[in-house]
Amino acid sequence: MTENKRQFKAIKGTRDILPPDSALWNWFEQTARNTFESYNFREIRLPIFEETELFARSIGADTDVVNKEMYTFNAGQDADAKEDAVASQTYSLRPEATASVARAYIEHGMQTLAGNVKLYYAGPMFRRERPQKGRYRQFYQVGAEVLGQSDAPGIDAEVIEMVMTFFKRAGLTRTTLHINSIGDNNCRPQYVEKLREELRNVAGQLGPDSQRRIETNPLRVLDSKLPDEQPVIEKLPRISDHLCDACREHFAKLKEEVSLRGIAYQEHWRLVRGLDYYTRTTFEVIAEGLGSQNAICGGGRYDGLVELLGGPPTKGIGFAIGTDRAILSIQESKRRPQLPGLAVFVAWMGQPAYPTAVNITRKLRDASLAVELPPEEMKFKKSLGLADKLGARYALIIGEDEVNSGTFTLKRLADSEQKKLSEFDLLEYLESERRGSV
Ligand code: HAM
Repeated sequence: MTENKRQFKAIKGTRDILPPDSALWNWFEQTARNTFESYNFREIRLPIFEETELFARSIGADTDVVNKEMYTFNAGQDADAKEDAVASQTYSLRPEATASVARAYIEHGMQTLAGNVKLYYAGPMFRRERPQKGRYRQFYQVGAEVLGQSDAPGIDAEVIEMVMTFFKRAGLTRTTLHINSIGDNNCRPQYVEKLREELRNVAGQLGPDSQRRIETNPLRVLDSKLPDEQPVIEKLPRISDHLCDACREHFAKLKEEVSLRGIAYQEHWRLVRGLDYYTRTTFEVIAEGLGSQNAICGGGRYDGLVELLGGPPTKGIGFAIGTDRAILSIQESKRRPQLPGLAVFVAWMGQPAYPTAVNITRKLRDASLAVELPPEEMKFKKSLGLADKLGARYALIIGEDEVNSGTFTLKRLADSEQKKLSEFDLLEYLESERRGSV
């Protein structure tokens, strides 16, 4: 039998997040959690796949996400599904999480909860897009949603403040906030019709994608990045001139509330977003130095979504941050946070030192220090060499002398400074050092 030596690789558009990057990812997500919780958001954990119909109805059947980018499979492949007589249904890997949050809100009757329901989530999303820098088929988001009875502009502003506060805490300061209002069911249909009419007049100057969108989804033409189309698009009618009184007032108040919080923004009339559920407020955060995939956060209001999915009339607003892109931006800015790495490498020598080494290692780990204990005896020089390569801050030397005197020798690898310490002093020293370095 010939052995099959085929090697496997991660599928195009997916990737492994390896150490030390994974520590940066964890820190990023933890900073998001801490920030969101300080605004009284709590976590919701959602399924990775849902009925395809949920996404089609929420995001819109004519959007690229639903039309071209979903990973969909037959529910009939699942033996239980057959029994449930839903074999003809399809399921899809989630391309985003807002639809799932709205579904969960309805399913669990969350409208009966006190105040606004404020939820956040973190996890992978899936879209079959053309992979490039900052664009993957499995990518990660941290996001948050507010659902309830009120659409007060103060909610929108606080959500935006939370995003910008988080970016500041994550060291992402070279960002630009874009905001817009795309009206509601009252005023947007008339605007879309006007836009369509105007687009039909200039169709000859547009490329095939935009031409197709004139009929399917004219707002999306505004999103076009094609250089030739820009002069044409700049002359198109603008939604801000066609908002109804209520939407115009909501937008004016939102801008006031954002300014009240000392947040700089740019109004961006072409910010229509690629998902159909949005009403009124839309916003995006752009980061410097990421090339074409430079949106690190997208969000907006979606007041009709819960009702569209069969729930009670409910207002909603939220956002999602693209973790992959935000991390790229942190890495490129060279302002990586100082993350605690390997604290101590236990360099033990001679079998009599081994039980002491095992013992002190456990105590250091109990004190939340990262400790590496070589499982086999090593020569002293080799041991220190490995400690260095692993990036340990300290080598803890335990040999015959130390065992006999009941002390430890702690060597700081950066400058080779050594101290002899009792167990008590060692623990106290390393713990205070850890607190200082975090
Ligand atoms: P979105 O604009 O489609 O909105 O995605 C939000 C962010 O996810 C983007 O700004 C980007 O950073 C990241 N992202 C999207 N696609 C990819 C990809 N293929 N590769 C890497 N990163 C990507 C939503 O998903 C809405 N659910 C946001 C929202 C929540 N609106 C209201 N509530």
